[in-house]
This record gives sequence, structure tokens and C-alpha cells, in this order.
Amino acid sequence: MTTTSPIRLPALAEHSALWEGRARNVLTWRRPFLQGVNWSDPPFATWFADGELNVSENCLDRHVAAGIGDRIAIYWEGEPGDRVQFTYRELLAEVCRAANAFATLGIGKGDRVVIYLPLIPEAIIAMLACARIGAIHSVVFAGFSPQSLRARVDDAGAKLVITADGGIRKGKVTPLKGAVDEALTEAQSVEHVLVVQRTSGERGERLNLETGSAWMPEGVGWRPGRDMWWHEVLDAESSVHEPEAFAAETPLFILYTSGTTGAPKGIVHTSAGYLTQAVFTHSTVFDLRPESDVYWCTADVGWITGHSYVVYGPLANGATQVIYEGAPDTPHHARWWELVERYRVSIFYTAPTAIRTFMRLGRQLADPYDLSSLRVLGSVGEPINPEAWEWFRDNVGGGGTPVIDTWWQTETGAVMAAPGVHQEVFKPGSVQHPVSGVHLSVVRDDGTPTAHDEIGFLVAELPWPSMARGIWGDPDRFVDTYWSRFPGRYFTGDSALVDSDGDLWLRGRVDDVMNVAGHRLSTAEIEATLGAHPYVAESAVVGAFDEKSGQAVVAFVVLKDSQRAAAGEDAHAVTVLRTWVRDQIGAIASPRQILVVPDLPKTRSGKIMRRLLRNAAEDRPVGDVTTLSDTSIMAVISARLAAGHTED
Ligand code: PRX
Repeated sequence: MTTTSPIRLPALAEHSALWEGRARNVLTWRRPFLQGVNWSDPPFATWFADGELNVSENCLDRHVAAGIGDRIAIYWEGEPGDRVQFTYRELLAEVCRAANAFATLGIGKGDRVVIYLPLIPEAIIAMLACARIGAIHSVVFAGFSPQSLRARVDDAGAKLVITADGGIRKGKVTPLKGAVDEALTEAQSVEHVLVVQRTSGERGERLNLETGSAWMPEGVGWRPGRDMWWHEVLDAESSVHEPEAFAAETPLFILYTSGTTGAPKGIVHTSAGYLTQAVFTHSTVFDLRPESDVYWCTADVGWITGHSYVVYGPLANGATQVIYEGAPDTPHHARWWELVERYRVSIFYTAPTAIRTFMRLGRQLADPYDLSSLRVLGSVGEPINPEAWEWFRDNVGGGGTPVIDTWWQTETGAVMAAPGVHQEVFKPGSVQHPVSGVHLSVVRDDGTPTAHDEIGFLVAELPWPSMARGIWGDPDRFVDTYWSRFPGRYFTGDSALVDSDGDLWLRGRVDDVMNVAGHRLSTAEIEATLGAHPYVAESAVVGAFDEKSGQAVVAFVVLKDSQRAAAGEDAHAVTVLRTWVRDQIGAIASPRQILVVPDLPKTRSGKIMRRLLRNAAEDRPVGDVTTLSDTSIMAVISARLAAGHTED
């Protein structure tokens, strides 16, 4: 439950017992555990520590043993339209080959493997093969630059890097192997690079030959002795591999995520606790019926959502899922709806930013497609504004489909708060309540509970099974970042409020909280207000330095195509919106500047990079734009800002 005053929590033993029952139910153990949570050395928890299991066996072998080996695990579709599918039995055989291959290359328990791949089946196979042999994977999103890749390889001390010759996005090839070669110059730890053939050579079955020829690259750089083709190495291996049992707290993966300052943090997750909560939430939050559902989560495996809700949750649950390699608008804007129709997708989990993009493009895009198979929709990654929530339900979900807004983080490993899929009434924009077995509170600066409707800091009161076990190589930073601001509690970095019904509303990162002339304002609140105006498709608000008021509000707004005529000249739209914000929240929230822009800077996972906007608004160098899905957008925005300044 989300608590305001007074806080009532279960005893630790009772809390532990709830999750122990689930861990026994949802996982197959080689050695049953007797211990539940151990919280004697906070913030370093252990869960089920004396038990043993193999994560990959839980995702694959046990389904084959249970007689569902012929169920489709993955319908994969490449951006150009090439298709591959795997049954659980077939996926197991591939993972066994990869596990054998990794062992042949000298990779064993505790070794780190960096995976830098596009969203192709080999990414999932590589992750599961690592899990199978007790190696620790660190997936680095393929959109990261060579420098970012190098920093992660070095920090983890990776022995093996797995990449592809190229990745395909928006009809173009990104030369991933070239990026790896640049990244690994004189990298000390890396012994081998396995290269999946995706864009070069003769692999007709993987390429749509009609359009494929356009991507044939010039050739792939090769360092003999270090570099090997994935398919050649795997072809030499057996498709049988006996999975070893590992202790419950064996590290499963490191996933780097950006902090408020400095170097990215390598968030460490371990095996059994992580898997328990990923599996439990994947099943209950989405009401999964593995025998009949077709599930699709649009996240890339480079992010935590891809780890928990593309790989580990769905596969351990024996689900059938769709995985799509490419961009939602390639080769046409209705590509996602085409896929929903083709595979009869019933559960669809995506991000608000994607929903708002579709909203902007208009509902007619989906009209030619039969979306009637959808029965549950999910949202994750940032607050979803009520307009987008309703649009999603009505235009994609056909009106009666629940939209499950899930709040969680890389650090939490799995969903922490979401409405119940069967509840009668939903509150668009609110995640409503923690999932059962998770205890969240909203507190003030001094740690006391907020009153209803008062914005405060979101904290977790008790340890949970999928919680991060630390930051790789930096236990002090783990303690400082998450556990020191409110001793004994996990600080999420998010602001939130609990309304008078006890429902939880996320209000944006605390690092995005602005202080304008002594008043605390949430960027998310102003964005929600702008988003509620009919002109606005999407907006991003930042607090920019201001001599008079400390910070001032600067808003970047994308107008709906359908409202362009009504909005008139940009200057007119800006006046209307400024008055609107002032009227809705008060003069204090009135933006110093509203800028109409063609799009917002977003990562390829859909996160709006407000930091870049803040830099631009403060006349500082914008910073690294290489992770943006459109690397040119910041130049456009900066130019408009500069033009705005001259007009002023
Ligand atoms: O600010 C919250 C926001 O995303 C942050 C976590 O980002 P990341 O670790 O990249 O994980 C994203 C996918 C789980 C949170 O601190 N966030 C995530 N989901 C929501 C959200 N904000 C509001 N509502 C959500 N449903």
C-alpha cells in the first residue's frame, strides 16, 4: 500500500513470507531455500540466499519438460520485414549452443559479457546463455556511442563483447562492429568479440531480399584471434547443455543507467529475487494467460524494461511474444498496428512518448487495422498524461481496454506500482497503488509523511526481491545515492503525491523539480497542464537559470498537426498557452518562454532528454546528442531559441 500518516507496515517476517510463497510458486528450484529476506546489513539485502536455481532453466528447459516445447516463444520481425520464429524448444537449443560456445571461449561463472546488439533474437539468446553458465551480462543499448560503450566495457572488466556487423533502423545500417572496433582500441579486458551477421554477407533467410541489397555494407573490420562470427562459433557446438545450479544471489546482470551527475552507474541485479518479482509482476500486472495471449513489449533489451518484460518475465512465464527490431514509423507510420493485427497481439506494453506520437499523427492511421485482439495495454517510463491515456484506451484499445500505467526503475528491477487490471474504475494519469508486497510512501524533506495531495519524495519502506543489490564496484555510491537521504528507506529520486483516495500520482524526477522565486514547481505538473490544452501534442518543461527568480520555466511544445490551423501563427499559440498555464496553475508557473518546436529530443527508448533542453535554454553547450533518436533536433531547437532571444 502507499501510506500517508500513520505508516503501517507488516513485520519483516510477514513481508518475507509473502514473497517466499511466490518464489516457490513461480520458480523451479534445484535446491529449495529456507531463508527469505536477510535485511541485517541494510541496504545490502539478500533474498532466498540458501536456495539454488538456474535462471535459463527457468526460462526454457522447464517449459519443454512441461510439454509446451512447441509453443512459440518469439515471433521476431525485422524492420525490412524479414521474419523468424522460435518455439521454446528451438530457443533452448540455440541458448545451449551459445552457452557451450561461451564456455569454449573461456567464459565462466562471474565473468562479464557485454552485449551490444540490435533488437535481434541473438541478443536474447546471448543473455540467456550468460545466465545459463553464471556469467554476468551487461547489455549496452546499440545506440550508445563508442565512448559510452568503452566506459561500460572498462567499468565491468568485460572479457567478451557480442555485437553485430550492423543494425538496421529507419532503413539505414548502423555499423556496430565499427563502433566496437573504435571502442575497444587497447581495451585491456576484452579477449574475444563475437559478431552476429545481420547486415552483410549471404544470409538470405534473415534479410528481405527485395530491399536487403541496399544495406550491403562495404565490409567489416576484423581482428584475427579476437573476432569471430557468431554463427561459425555456434555451428560448431552441441545444442545440448546441462544447466548448473547457482546460488540465488549469483549476479545475473549489470545495467548501466545515468545518474544525476558524472559517470553512469552499473546497477547490479542478482538471480532468484529478481526473477521472482519479474515473473510475478509480468503475470499479475498484465493478467497474462500464457496459453492464449500474444504479448508485445516494444522496449529494447538495452533498457531494464527489455530485461524484465521482454526477456526474463515473459520467457519464465512461458509466454508467446512479438519482438520487432525497427522504428515504429518504418516503412510506414502504422507499422506497429500492422504487427498487432498480424500476430493478434493481446497485451501491448509501450511508452507514453510513443502514444503521444501516435496521437499527434491521428487515429486514422490505425483505422485500416484490426486491433480487436488487444485486451490489456501498458505504459511505462514517464508519467502518462490523462489525454494520452484516454486516447490510447479509446483509439488503440477500442474503448474498453484497461491501460495499466506501471511505475518502476532500473534500480527496482520490476514493476513496483500499477493499477489492478480488473478494477472497475481507473484514474488516468495515476499509477494508483503499489503492487502487493511493495510498500511505498511519500514523505517530506524531513522524512515525515506528506498530507493528502501534498507533493513529496517517493520512498520504499521495505526491501523487495528485485531491488538492486548495488552499483558495480562502488558500494559507497549505492549507499549515498539511494539510502542516505532518508536513512532506512530507499529514495527513488521521484516526486509524487497521494490523493485523498490513497492513490499514487508520480510528479517527475526530483532532479527536474524547479524552484522559481522560492516556490517549488514540478516540471511534470506544467507539462501535464500544457498537455491538457487541445493544441498540444507533447511538451517538455525545464527550469532554466534566471537572474531574477533563481530558475524560470521554459517550455518546449509540439503542436498537434490537426490543430495547426486553429493555433495559427506560433506567436498566437504561445500567447494562448501562456495564459492557459497561468490560468490553470497560477502566475508563478507561467513560462518565461514557450517555444514551438517540431519535435522533442528523445532517446531511442523514448525518454525526453530534458537535460539537453535545459542546457540549450541556459545558453550552454547542448551536450552529447548521440543517444537521441533524431540527432539533428537539438540544432533546430537551439536555432529557434537563438532567434527567440534576438526577437526579445
Ligand atoms: O521518473 C520515473 C520514470 O522513469 C524513472 C526510471 O527510469 P528508468 O530507470 O530508465 O526505468 C524506466 C522503465 C522502468 C523513474 O524514476 N518513470 C518510470 N515509469 C513511470 C515513471 N514516471 C511516471 N510514471 C511511470 N509509470
